[in-house]
Amino acid sequence: MPEDTTLRDAADAADFRLGAAVAADPLRTDAGYWTSLRRGFNTVTAENAMKMGPMRPEPGVYDFTDADAVANFAEEHDMALRGHTLVWHNQLPDWFQEWDYTDDQLAAFLRDHVHTVAGRYRGTVEAWDVVNEAVADDGTMRDSVWYDALGDRYLDDAFRWANDVAPDADLFYNDYGADAVNEKSDAIYELLEGMLDRGVPVDGVGLQMHALDGVPDPESVAENVRRFSDLGLDVHVTEMDVAYPEADAPENHRERQAEDYRDILDVCLAEGVDTLVVWGVRDSDSWIPEWFPHVTEDPLLFDASNDPKPAYHALKERLEDTD
Ligand code: G3I
Repeated sequence: MPEDTTLRDAADAADFRLGAAVAADPLRTDAGYWTSLRRGFNTVTAENAMKMGPMRPEPGVYDFTDADAVANFAEEHDMALRGHTLVWHNQLPDWFQEWDYTDDQLAAFLRDHVHTVAGRYRGTVEAWDVVNEAVADDGTMRDSVWYDALGDRYLDDAFRWANDVAPDADLFYNDYGADAVNEKSDAIYELLEGMLDRGVPVDGVGLQMHALDGVPDPESVAENVRRFSDLGLDVHVTEMDVAYPEADAPENHRERQAEDYRDILDVCLAEGVDTLVVWGVRDSDSWIPEWFPHVTEDPLLFDASNDPKPAYHALKERLEDTD
């Protein structure tokens, strides 16, 4: 039964950024995919197309084909675009393995990459995940190509380089497992507080919210958001999906899932978080079944047949309820 208004309509009316991670191929080939995307969301994040590996197929070469496809789709459909991600320890160019670089060569490479990519999408990308997942789960700095060669100054440099060419974009630090108050979010709080003290242009923090056993305690998420806001940072929920261990999934877990999504949206609306992105359009597009085979495999708002799920309706009702 065609619906009068869509989740996207409700998000637009509430002036809320509700987004989805997208892949370039189905945007080109799958009508069901882009129909659901336009029905549910007013914001997109490139799931993989704007990462370093996919963009840097060979030394000295940039391939913007897929990234442009995502950016053009967003523009055509009046959707906001979050850029993901300029600096990460994963999905590095394959040829990095053979590259016997010096620290200075690596720094020059990274500087050129950030300048080129953030510069290309200036005015198109509203917010960048400049650095992704630089903190390990125990709160120490994660070992990576960047950290091992450049120390933690690579974070300061990356934000300054992004700001050089895209001063109007909001520049975010993004991570997982730090959605509520815990050892890792404490470490990220100290990291960002130090960067701000050094005058590094950090505008926000992204809480990924990959909930693989239901969402964390909403009150603790709210407390976490408040302390980052008190630092003067914007907070975005950047990669949300909700699953449960198959072994003891709640009965009718899709109803519970709807509550979990709504609870996090409630925190967003109460704490001034204006952006919530889910990590995929349909359950069949999700990364979760491949990486976590022991959890429920339907973590998103649309099912594989492009039908909206209870979580879709729960978010729509909540957004329609904002005055
Ligand atoms: O594009 C190649 C294709 O040419 C090749 O044939 C195929 C088979 O190997 O691989 C394709 O690349 C895959 C890529 O997704 C695009 O589909 C990579 O193998 C695969 O590892 C990559 O997975 C992505 C993963 O990040 C990489 O770590 C997931 O789609 C993506 O959802 C996931 O997203 C991350 C965020 O960026 C950061 N936070 C966690 C989140 C989930 O891991």
